[in-house]
Amino acid sequence: MLVVTVANLKGGVGKTTSAICLAQAAAEAGETAMVVDSDPQGSAMRWGQLALDRDEPLSVLVTAHAGADLPRYVESLSSTAVLIDTGPSRSNEDVKVLRSAIKAASLVVVPCQPSGVDLDTIGAALDVCEEHDRQAVVLLTRTKAPTLVRDVRAPLADAGAHVLDAEVPDRASVVRSYGFAPPPEVLEPYRAAWAEVSALARVETGR
Ligand SMILES: Nc1ncnc2c1ncn2[C@@H]1O[C@H](COP(=O)(O)OP(=O)(O)O)[C@@H](O)[C@H]1O
Ligand SMILES: [Mg+2]
Repeated sequence: MLVVTVANLKGGVGKTTSAICLAQAAAEAGETAMVVDSDPQGSAMRWGQLALDRDEPLSVLVTAHAGADLPRYVESLSSTAVLIDTGPSRSNEDVKVLRSAIKAASLVVVPCQPSGVDLDTIGAALDVCEEHDRQAVVLLTRTKAPTLVRDVRAPLADAGAHVLDAEVPDRASVVRSYGFAPPPEVLEPYRAAWAEVSALARVETGR
Protein backbone atom coordinates (compact mmCIF):
# COMPACT_ATOMS: atom_id res chain seq x y z
CA MET A 1 0.00 0.00 0.00
CA LEU A 2 1.26 3.45 -0.94
CA VAL A 3 0.35 6.07 1.66
CA VAL A 4 0.88 9.66 0.64
CA THR A 5 -0.04 12.57 2.90
CA VAL A 6 -0.77 15.99 1.41
CA ALA A 7 0.23 18.61 3.95
CA ASN A 8 1.11 22.24 4.46
CA LEU A 9 0.45 24.15 7.67
CA LYS A 10 -1.03 26.94 5.54
CA GLY A 11 -4.61 26.82 4.24
CA GLY A 12 -5.71 27.46 0.67
CA VAL A 13 -2.57 26.13 -1.03
CA GLY A 14 -4.31 23.33 -2.94
CA LYS A 15 -4.09 20.42 -0.49
CA THR A 16 -7.63 19.10 -0.95
CA THR A 17 -7.57 19.59 -4.73
CA SER A 18 -4.24 17.78 -4.90
CA ALA A 19 -5.38 14.90 -2.67
CA ILE A 20 -8.48 14.26 -4.79
CA CYS A 21 -6.72 14.70 -8.16
CA LEU A 22 -3.69 12.60 -7.18
CA ALA A 23 -6.05 9.86 -6.00
CA GLN A 24 -7.98 10.00 -9.27
CA ALA A 25 -4.70 9.83 -11.19
CA ALA A 26 -3.68 6.84 -9.05
CA ALA A 27 -7.00 5.12 -9.81
CA GLU A 28 -6.41 5.68 -13.53
CA ALA A 29 -2.99 4.11 -13.12
CA GLY A 30 -4.63 0.95 -11.78
CA GLU A 31 -4.59 1.53 -8.02
CA THR A 32 -7.56 1.11 -5.71
CA ALA A 33 -7.47 4.70 -4.54
CA MET A 34 -8.82 6.28 -1.43
CA VAL A 35 -8.71 9.71 0.18
CA VAL A 36 -8.75 9.91 3.97
CA ASP A 37 -9.94 13.36 5.00
CA SER A 38 -8.25 14.26 8.29
CA ASP A 39 -9.36 17.91 8.11
CA PRO A 40 -12.35 18.52 10.44
CA GLN A 41 -13.61 21.03 7.83
CA GLY A 42 -14.24 18.00 5.64
CA SER A 43 -13.78 19.54 2.16
CA ALA A 44 -12.49 16.31 0.62
CA MET A 45 -15.43 14.39 2.12
CA ARG A 46 -17.81 16.97 0.72
CA TRP A 47 -16.14 16.76 -2.71
CA GLY A 48 -16.59 12.99 -2.69
CA GLN A 49 -20.22 13.22 -1.54
CA LEU A 50 -21.15 15.81 -4.19
CA ALA A 51 -19.53 13.70 -6.92
CA LEU A 52 -21.41 10.62 -5.68
CA ASP A 53 -24.73 12.51 -5.63
CA ARG A 54 -24.08 13.64 -9.20
CA ASP A 55 -23.11 10.16 -10.41
CA GLU A 56 -19.76 11.53 -11.47
CA PRO A 57 -17.06 9.07 -12.63
CA LEU A 58 -14.82 9.78 -9.62
CA SER A 59 -12.99 6.49 -9.01
CA VAL A 60 -11.97 7.46 -5.49
CA LEU A 61 -13.49 6.47 -2.18
CA VAL A 62 -13.40 9.30 0.37
CA THR A 63 -13.63 8.69 4.11
CA ALA A 64 -13.01 10.89 7.10
CA HIS A 65 -10.75 10.18 10.04
CA ALA A 66 -9.31 12.90 12.22
CA GLY A 67 -7.32 11.62 15.13
CA ALA A 68 -3.90 10.85 16.48
CA ASP A 69 -4.09 7.20 15.35
CA LEU A 70 -3.98 7.62 11.57
CA PRO A 71 -1.16 5.08 11.10
CA ARG A 72 -3.32 2.35 12.67
CA TYR A 73 -6.43 3.48 10.82
CA VAL A 74 -4.65 3.43 7.45
CA GLU A 75 -3.28 -0.06 8.13
CA SER A 76 -6.87 -1.30 8.42
CA LEU A 77 -7.72 -0.14 4.88
CA SER A 78 -7.61 -2.43 1.87
CA SER A 79 -6.83 0.19 -0.81
CA THR A 80 -3.53 0.09 -2.68
CA ALA A 81 -3.09 3.88 -2.73
CA VAL A 82 -4.19 6.10 0.16
CA LEU A 83 -3.99 9.89 -0.02
CA ILE A 84 -4.41 11.63 3.33
CA ASP A 85 -5.74 15.18 3.08
CA THR A 86 -4.86 17.41 6.01
CA GLY A 87 -6.18 20.71 7.32
CA PRO A 88 -4.39 23.91 8.25
CA SER A 89 -2.66 23.77 11.62
CA ARG A 90 -4.03 26.40 13.97
CA SER A 91 -4.38 24.62 17.32
CA ASN A 92 -2.34 22.01 19.21
CA GLU A 93 -5.02 19.48 18.32
CA ASP A 94 -4.57 20.29 14.59
CA VAL A 95 -0.84 19.75 14.91
CA LYS A 96 -1.40 16.40 16.64
CA VAL A 97 -3.55 15.21 13.72
CA LEU A 98 -1.02 16.55 11.21
CA ARG A 99 1.82 14.67 12.90
CA SER A 100 -0.26 11.52 12.92
CA ALA A 101 -1.00 11.93 9.18
CA ILE A 102 2.70 12.41 8.46
CA LYS A 103 3.65 9.36 10.53
CA ALA A 104 1.13 7.27 8.58
CA ALA A 105 2.71 8.21 5.23
CA SER A 106 5.65 6.87 3.28
CA LEU A 107 5.88 10.18 1.40
CA VAL A 108 4.52 13.67 2.02
CA VAL A 109 3.47 15.99 -0.81
CA VAL A 110 3.65 19.67 0.17
CA PRO A 111 1.65 21.85 -2.24
CA CYS A 112 3.10 25.34 -2.54
CA GLN A 113 2.03 28.34 -4.58
CA PRO A 114 4.76 30.40 -6.22
CA SER A 115 4.49 33.38 -3.89
CA GLY A 116 6.68 34.97 -1.26
CA VAL A 117 4.36 34.17 1.63
CA ASP A 118 4.07 30.52 0.60
CA LEU A 119 7.83 30.21 0.30
CA ASP A 120 8.21 31.88 3.67
CA THR A 121 5.89 29.42 5.45
CA ILE A 122 6.71 26.12 3.71
CA GLY A 123 9.66 25.45 6.02
CA ALA A 124 7.32 24.59 8.90
CA ALA A 125 5.80 21.67 6.97
CA LEU A 126 9.19 20.45 5.76
CA ASP A 127 10.51 20.57 9.34
CA VAL A 128 7.67 18.39 10.68
CA CYS A 129 8.38 15.83 7.93
CA GLU A 130 12.06 15.81 8.83
CA GLU A 131 11.26 15.39 12.53
CA HIS A 132 9.33 12.24 11.67
CA ASP A 133 11.92 11.09 9.15
CA ARG A 134 9.50 11.25 6.23
CA GLN A 135 10.55 12.33 2.75
CA ALA A 136 8.76 15.51 1.63
CA VAL A 137 8.33 16.61 -1.97
CA VAL A 138 7.08 20.03 -3.00
CA LEU A 139 4.34 20.29 -5.63
CA LEU A 140 4.09 23.75 -7.16
CA THR A 141 0.43 24.68 -7.65
CA ARG A 142 -1.40 27.58 -9.30
CA THR A 143 1.65 28.41 -11.37
CA LYS A 144 1.38 31.27 -13.85
CA ALA A 145 4.47 33.05 -15.11
CA PRO A 146 7.41 30.71 -15.84
CA THR A 147 9.81 33.37 -14.56
CA LEU A 148 8.07 33.39 -11.18
CA VAL A 149 8.29 29.60 -11.07
CA ARG A 150 12.05 29.82 -11.70
CA ASP A 151 12.30 32.36 -8.86
CA VAL A 152 10.62 29.85 -6.56
CA ARG A 153 12.31 26.63 -7.70
CA ALA A 154 15.81 28.02 -7.14
CA PRO A 155 15.49 28.96 -3.43
CA LEU A 156 13.58 25.75 -2.69
CA ALA A 157 16.33 23.67 -4.27
CA ASP A 158 18.97 25.74 -2.44
CA ALA A 159 17.17 24.97 0.83
CA GLY A 160 17.46 21.26 0.02
CA ALA A 161 13.79 20.73 -0.83
CA HIS A 162 12.89 18.13 -3.44
CA VAL A 163 10.61 19.91 -5.93
CA LEU A 164 8.61 17.72 -8.32
CA ASP A 165 9.15 18.36 -12.04
CA ALA A 166 5.37 18.31 -12.53
CA GLU A 167 3.58 21.53 -11.63
CA VAL A 168 -0.10 22.45 -11.61
CA PRO A 169 -1.00 25.58 -13.57
CA ASP A 170 -3.48 28.15 -12.29
CA ARG A 171 -6.74 27.36 -14.07
CA ALA A 172 -10.38 28.29 -13.60
CA SER A 173 -11.22 24.68 -14.57
CA VAL A 174 -9.58 23.54 -11.31
CA VAL A 175 -11.87 25.81 -9.29
CA ARG A 176 -14.90 24.50 -11.22
CA SER A 177 -13.94 20.86 -10.67
CA TYR A 178 -14.86 20.92 -6.95
CA GLY A 179 -17.53 18.28 -6.40
CA PHE A 180 -16.99 16.65 -9.81
CA ALA A 181 -14.64 14.09 -11.32
CA PRO A 182 -11.66 16.22 -12.39
CA PRO A 183 -11.77 16.72 -16.20
CA PRO A 184 -8.74 15.74 -18.35
CA GLU A 185 -7.18 19.22 -18.43
CA VAL A 186 -7.23 19.36 -14.62
CA LEU A 187 -6.02 15.78 -14.24
CA GLU A 188 -3.17 16.00 -16.73
CA PRO A 189 -0.59 17.70 -14.46
CA TYR A 190 -1.65 15.45 -11.59
CA ARG A 191 -1.00 12.34 -13.73
CA ALA A 192 2.57 13.54 -14.18
CA ALA A 193 2.82 14.36 -10.46
CA TRP A 194 1.44 10.92 -9.49
CA ALA A 195 4.03 9.19 -11.71
CA GLU A 196 6.80 10.96 -9.77
CA VAL A 197 5.13 10.60 -6.37
CA SER A 198 4.29 6.90 -6.72
CA ALA A 199 7.82 6.06 -7.89
CA LEU A 200 9.31 7.84 -4.85
CA ALA A 201 6.73 6.35 -2.45
CA ARG A 202 7.49 2.85 -3.79
CA VAL A 203 11.16 3.33 -3.00
CA GLU A 204 10.27 4.51 0.53
CA THR A 205 7.96 1.53 1.15
CA GLY A 206 10.40 -0.89 -0.46
CA ARG A 207 7.79 -2.05 -2.96
N1 LIG B 1 -4.30 24.88 -9.93
C1 LIG B 1 -5.26 25.68 -9.48
N2 LIG B 1 -5.76 26.69 -10.25
C2 LIG B 1 -6.74 27.51 -9.79
N3 LIG B 1 -7.31 27.39 -8.59
C3 LIG B 1 -6.86 26.42 -7.77
C4 LIG B 1 -5.83 25.52 -8.15
N4 LIG B 1 -5.62 24.65 -7.12
C5 LIG B 1 -6.48 25.00 -6.15
N5 LIG B 1 -7.24 26.05 -6.52
C6 LIG B 1 -8.30 26.74 -5.75
O1 LIG B 1 -7.72 27.28 -4.58
C7 LIG B 1 -8.64 27.17 -3.48
C8 LIG B 1 -7.97 26.40 -2.36
O2 LIG B 1 -7.70 25.07 -2.81
P1 LIG B 1 -7.83 23.83 -1.82
O3 LIG B 1 -7.43 22.62 -2.60
O4 LIG B 1 -9.16 23.82 -1.16
O5 LIG B 1 -6.67 24.21 -0.76
P2 LIG B 1 -6.44 23.72 0.75
O6 LIG B 1 -7.01 22.35 0.87
O7 LIG B 1 -4.95 23.76 0.90
O8 LIG B 1 -7.10 24.71 1.64
C9 LIG B 1 -9.87 26.46 -4.05
O9 LIG B 1 -10.83 27.44 -4.40
C10 LIG B 1 -9.35 25.75 -5.27
O10 LIG B 1 -10.35 25.54 -6.26
MG1 LIG C 1 -8.40 21.59 2.27
